[in-house]
Parts: sequence; C-alpha cells; structure tokens
Amino acid sequence: MPKVLVIGGAGYIGSHVVKALLQSQYSVRVYDDLSSGHEINLFANAEFIKGDILDYPSLNEAMKGIDAVVFLAAKKAVGESMINPEKYAVNNIVGSVNVLNAMAENEVKAIVFSSSAAVYGIPQYVPMDEKHPLNPLNFYGFTKVETERLMQWYDALKGIKYTSLRYFNAAGYDADGDVKGKDKEPQNLLPILMEVVTGKRDFLQIFGNDYDTRDGTCLRDYIHVTDLATAHVLSIKRLLEGKESLIVNLGTGTGTSVKEIVIAAEKVFEKNIPVKYAERRSGDPAVLLASNETARKELGWEPKYTNIEDIIRTFAKIY
Ligand code: UFG
Repeated sequence: MPKVLVIGGAGYIGSHVVKALLQSQYSVRVYDDLSSGHEINLFANAEFIKGDILDYPSLNEAMKGIDAVVFLAAKKAVGESMINPEKYAVNNIVGSVNVLNAMAENEVKAIVFSSSAAVYGIPQYVPMDEKHPLNPLNFYGFTKVETERLMQWYDALKGIKYTSLRYFNAAGYDADGDVKGKDKEPQNLLPILMEVVTGKRDFLQIFGNDYDTRDGTCLRDYIHVTDLATAHVLSIKRLLEGKESLIVNLGTGTGTSVKEIVIAAEKVFEKNIPVKYAERRSGDPAVLLASNETARKELGWEPKYTNIEDIIRTFAKIY
C-alpha cells in the first residue's frame, strides 16, 4: 500500500486522520513536534518521527519513501494570530514552503492540506461554496490563503497535485475512544463547554445574543472530526489515482446556534449548563455555513454525523 506522511499526525484532527488511513490499509509515518499534539495520540502501527516543519533537514529525511502527504501542522489560534503575526507567518507560511520544497526534492506528487473556512471572512452569501471570494478577517486565515496559493504554483511548476480541505467547525472525538489527547488550552466553543460539563469551569460565556439569527446567537456548521478524517482518506486515494488538484469545503451544510449547542449538551449529559451572556467577540460572523456539494461530487464523501447530539455525545469518550 502507498505510504502517507502525516505532518501534524499527533494533533486533534491529525490523529483521527491517522486512524482512518490505517483502517484503509495505508502505511503511515507521522511527523510531529508534539508542541500541541499528544504522544498518547500516536498509533502503535504508524511510524513516528519527532520533528519540526521549520527543521528542513529533518523534514527532508522524513519525506524519503513517501507517496503522499497530509499536511496539518500549523498554529491555529485566530486571536493569537492577530497579536503575534510573526509566529503565524513563520510556522504557517515558511512551514508550508518547507513542506512543498521537501516534496519537490523527493518527488512526492500529492498533498492534502488543512485549510479553513477562515479563508472566506464575512460571508457574502450562505451556504458558501468554494467560489466564494476570499477575504480573510484574521492573519490565521491569510496564512491558509497563502498556502493555497503556494500549492497552485507548485502544481503548475513542480507537478505537485493538491487537495485543499477547507474545514468548517471541527467537533467531537473518535467514537471508539482511540484518540485520547484533550485540547491543552481550549479556545473553541465545544471543548470549553465540556470543561463546564466536567466542572472545570463554572459557566459558559456566550459571545453575543443580538445577532440576526433565529435565537440571536451565532450559527456554525459543526462537522464531526471522523467525517473530516474520512475526507482526507478519500482525497489521498483520488490524488494517487492521478486526478487534478481540488479545493473542497467540509461541513454538513446545517447550522447550529450557540444556544442550540447548549440545549443539546444539556440533553446529552442530563445536566444544567450555566451560561452568562457577554459582548460579541470581534470578528465573529453571524452565520458560517458550508455548501458541501464539491465534497459529495468529487470525493464521494458524505457526513455520517448529521445530528448535533450525536456529535456532542462523542466528547464523553475523553472528558
Ligand atoms: N463561542 C461562545 N463562547 C465561547 C467560545 C465560542 O459563545 O466560549 C461562540 C463564538 O462566538 C462562535 C461559536 O461559539 O459564535 C463558535 O466559536 P468557535 O471559537 O468554536 O469557532 P469559530 O467559528 O470562531 O472558529 C472556527 C475555527 C477556526 C476558524 C473559524 C472560521 O475554530 O479555526 O471557524 O472558519 F478560523
């Protein structure tokens, strides 16, 4: 079977991707510096190299004998990217250059890249398809746009085919409990809410209840991480069949509000979840919703988790 290098394979999404690749009989090598990933997320039947994408010689060595790359390693805190853009420029842009250069040097011709709905900025229409204009509101989103552009050039000049997966709101954990690493410093709604459920926090802050939505709170498209992982496997398979480069949104196409998330979690965990209303968080669009037609048509992908309660239930595996 082809050998896949998963860069960032010890992280939240990466470890789910590794599991899915192994289940599909791919041979897997993980490259991760464990800065935010977890050693307990490593699978015994995948090779592991501890290394940083900024260490070119080490990355180049890891690329030997590889047929395709899944590239997830990046900094991902939107707020921090606005305060410390230098860190994001180096890790997310220079890091991407290193990955593409190491691929070119070793003649690896296929890459699946972790992009984000953050490339779009404030929606001009919803659901958003891949043709929606790119106007990132934050530096994090800008680094994703830049890597997509780099990949376009390396496709044209070096024949490296890519699939850029623009994730909407990743959520949940492996239903078998095989991925064990919790988010170290949660910034996103669901891991924060889980800390309220487990008593680590006293209440959940809801940022804004005066949005133009059905209940005043923001609507997001929550997609289960195992469904995301499946899309990576389908993308690798498609690229190794010699298909053209592709950009794909990954979402369910359904919106859930912050209040609806709280109600669903209260039902799943049979607990009252205390909330406090706070000011709007800057840069939050009222609604983010994906059109997933490209994923369905080009990848033959379909989300298995379409019910928010089922997604939330999978957090109980590790919290
Ligand atoms: N929220 C709260 N309270 C919290 C945390 C979040 O009310 O304590 C709200 C936010 O205001 C937002 C919703 O919950 O309305 C979801 O927020 P997240 O931080 O979980 O997710 P975002 O939609 O802001 O961010 C996600 C990804 C980013 C990506 C962005 C845009 O996590 O990586 O979508 O695509 F950049």
